[in-house]
Amino acid sequence: MTDTQNTGFNTRAIHAGQAFEPHTGAVVPPVHFSTTYAQDGISGLRNGYEYGRGTNPTRDSLQQQLAALEGGSTGLTFGSGLAAEDALIRAVLRPGDHIVLGNDAYGGTYRLISRIFGDWGIGHTAVDMSDVGAVRDAVAATGAKLVWLETPSNPMMKITDIAAIAEVAHAAGATLVVDNTFATPYLQQPLALGADVVVHSTTKYIGGHSDVVGGAVVTADDELAEKIGFMQFAAGAVNGPMDAFLTTRGLKTLGVRMDRHSDNAERVAEWLLGRPEVEKVLYPGLPEHPGHELAAQQMKRFGGMVSVQFVGGEPAARAVAEATRVFTLAESLGGIESLMNYPSEMTHASVKGTELAVPENLLRLSVGIEDVEDQLADLEQAFSRLA
Ligand SMILES: Cc1ncc(COP(=O)(O)O)c(C=O)c1O
Repeated sequence: MTDTQNTGFNTRAIHAGQAFEPHTGAVVPPVHFSTTYAQDGISGLRNGYEYGRGTNPTRDSLQQQLAALEGGSTGLTFGSGLAAEDALIRAVLRPGDHIVLGNDAYGGTYRLISRIFGDWGIGHTAVDMSDVGAVRDAVAATGAKLVWLETPSNPMMKITDIAAIAEVAHAAGATLVVDNTFATPYLQQPLALGADVVVHSTTKYIGGHSDVVGGAVVTADDELAEKIGFMQFAAGAVNGPMDAFLTTRGLKTLGVRMDRHSDNAERVAEWLLGRPEVEKVLYPGLPEHPGHELAAQQMKRFGGMVSVQFVGGEPAARAVAEATRVFTLAESLGGIESLMNYPSEMTHASVKGTELAVPENLLRLSVGIEDVEDQLADLEQAFSRLA
């Protein structure tokens, strides 16, 4: 199937950019490892293929698949999520420019913006993205050219109104970037809500099996696509063919995985809510979550990430994190297996002591697609250590 334009999400996930190989009819397109391509005479390129950093058919397949799923015209993939973010920022900004970002952005994004781009003369202001007025004021006060938001955010699970922030950004002539890593295009479509660019750590739900690091940028703005595409080619932080293949293979099952992640996370969040050891459960699917209604509007479901804060503070959080078995204590998220993370010392250690610091009584759960009864039994046995 080659024309997937008017098909549903899962059909696009499986078929966009995945036409069978014409020579043999192989249903799964081969992985192209070649770094270079024979030319039919000087400059006689076959279908534009010249050199692996610039173009590779396996990467092209993934890029087309991602663009089709996010509703963009161009997808560009990179060696990691941060490499994608780096290429995007360098393509769009120049020294002297400013970024307004969420005050609970992923720690690595904040580190890239504050410590790498800070030294290259790009300023930043962190604000609460759920406060639209505060974002408007920050953009006006700084003349920001880029507004950067994550929703749900990592790990505080705040929900931001993408359409409202798009309006604020565009009124000021700024570009809106949405990090859609937590939600994925199955649950949320930022470009349709007004964002200019979507970024992903494809390492997470898109790859989905914790076996490949990667990143992506998707946009429907051709001018922006050309600038970022030039950065991908000229600075060269591309993903390799095997990584692109694994990411494509994972992405084909995104819809079914996200439904199961959401089913299980809803049950886990409800279970946590009923526990006396718990101070707060941060999950947008819970009616008491401050972003619940907004999430219900702009997301299809609420996803697989749940954060929890403990009455017993840091010692309780640490004790639970080190006692689970189905939930593996590890960095990262979004794979089929459940993971447990203590952000203040792990994923978000780089923002300790900064305005983006994460509470020390908080654990972040990436709820996998194992049987939910086993996930709950595991939490039960870990919580029993707190008695
Ligand atoms: C929301 C979010 N954005 C971006 C990144 C960076 O991606 P990568 O680790 O693939 O460089 C991460 C990684 O954890 C993330 O959670």
